[in-house]
Amino acid sequence: MQLIDGFSKLSRAEKLEWLKQQAGLSDSTMKILEDHLHRDRDTQVIYGDLSENTISNFYLPLGLAPNFLINGKLMTLPMVTEESSVVAAASKSAKFWAAHGGFHAGVKGHSKAGQVHFTWSGERDELYRIFERNRERMVQSVRSLTRRMEQRGGGIRSMEIRSTDPGLPGTYNLFVDFNTADAMGANFINSVLEALALQLSQIMTGSGSDGELDVLMSILSNYTPDSIVQCYVEGEVKIFEEMGGGFGPLQFTQRFRKAVDIANHDPYRAVTHNKGIFNGMDAVIMATGNDFRAVEACGHAYASREGSYRSLSSVEWSEEAFRLTLESPLAVGTVGGLTGSHPLAAASLEILGKPSAEELMQVVAAAGLATHFSAVRALITSGIQKGHMKMHLGNILRQLQASKREAEITRHYFSSRVVSYSEVASYLESLRKQNQEE
Ligand code: MEV
Repeated sequence: MQLIDGFSKLSRAEKLEWLKQQAGLSDSTMKILEDHLHRDRDTQVIYGDLSENTISNFYLPLGLAPNFLINGKLMTLPMVTEESSVVAAASKSAKFWAAHGGFHAGVKGHSKAGQVHFTWSGERDELYRIFERNRERMVQSVRSLTRRMEQRGGGIRSMEIRSTDPGLPGTYNLFVDFNTADAMGANFINSVLEALALQLSQIMTGSGSDGELDVLMSILSNYTPDSIVQCYVEGEVKIFEEMGGGFGPLQFTQRFRKAVDIANHDPYRAVTHNKGIFNGMDAVIMATGNDFRAVEACGHAYASREGSYRSLSSVEWSEEAFRLTLESPLAVGTVGGLTGSHPLAAASLEILGKPSAEELMQVVAAAGLATHFSAVRALITSGIQKGHMKMHLGNILRQLQASKREAEITRHYFSSRVVSYSEVASYLESLRKQNQEE
């Protein structure tokens, strides 16, 4: 590979030509890149413009998980994931819980934070005093930016200066608490913060103090511990009669509780345990055009809030009743950003009945709880591979280039057998040999 200047200025065809030479791509790979463009030019422009240096589209399936009863309302969830068995796991859980009261979800708080990080060489008390005197002036200085958000019920909720002492003496941040209504609001928050940073600098410079204020950066925080969603499912222990795969309902629920306990004591298990929650959450986050990296980073930080990484779910158990709860911070939007510009994100929101941000938080949590319940249920009964590999069989058959008929026969053969790549490969080989001989 060679260094290149001005790559972004090349046309798509020129970029592809450069790539072909540099990476030695075959004609068939070039054709794949071409074939994955949208057939409608205008739509392709929309997808291409979502990012930079676009040469093709990278597809992921948009699937549906029906039968989600959330707070008494029946919903079908759009899910985008590359992992086979996630949508099936969500659907299976949803159907089971729909018969037992469904998902009960609620939102505690809905605020997002942003920070202007700066250093101040003067006395701390003086900084605080000058800031307090000018707090209202600062709020007013950004009214042109916040007015529209205020009309939608959002805006700045509070503002204070926090010190990063004792870790970093002389380092502070202006901590601003926002309500962004139904928007994710990242651009809104960052624009307001940058304007506040400028104001703060000017105020301190003009204050007559000897201290100097130097703004380092202004950025929203993806940690939203004051924007929490809770979701639970519950039922009498006896509803698990059919679930336990050989274990009675009491044993099943005890084993479930033990699995959650382990995740609370062992980070190696907790990360995987929480990943099973994010399987469902991320899939709805992706489908609705929200930022899954922000949601993930925030969720994992929250899981570590007590000093060690723990489960985001908890179990309340007695010999009669079982309740599984998920609690996670979540910052999502249903207006603005990608939710408006990505045609499929807009379609997903329509499938969900155009929810508010708070409603979407509840849906996302229900999806996470659903995949989590299915995963732990499988782990503590039949093991995860049985179901997972069954769903994965299609991928293996594709990798082995099985014909339609070969796939049909192989699926039938493995309907009562354990699936693994090598088992499928050798079965297919024997099938092909047999066909040649006939
Ligand atoms: C796989 O994508 C998710 C699981 O590993 C979750 C878990 O272990 O709880 C099955």
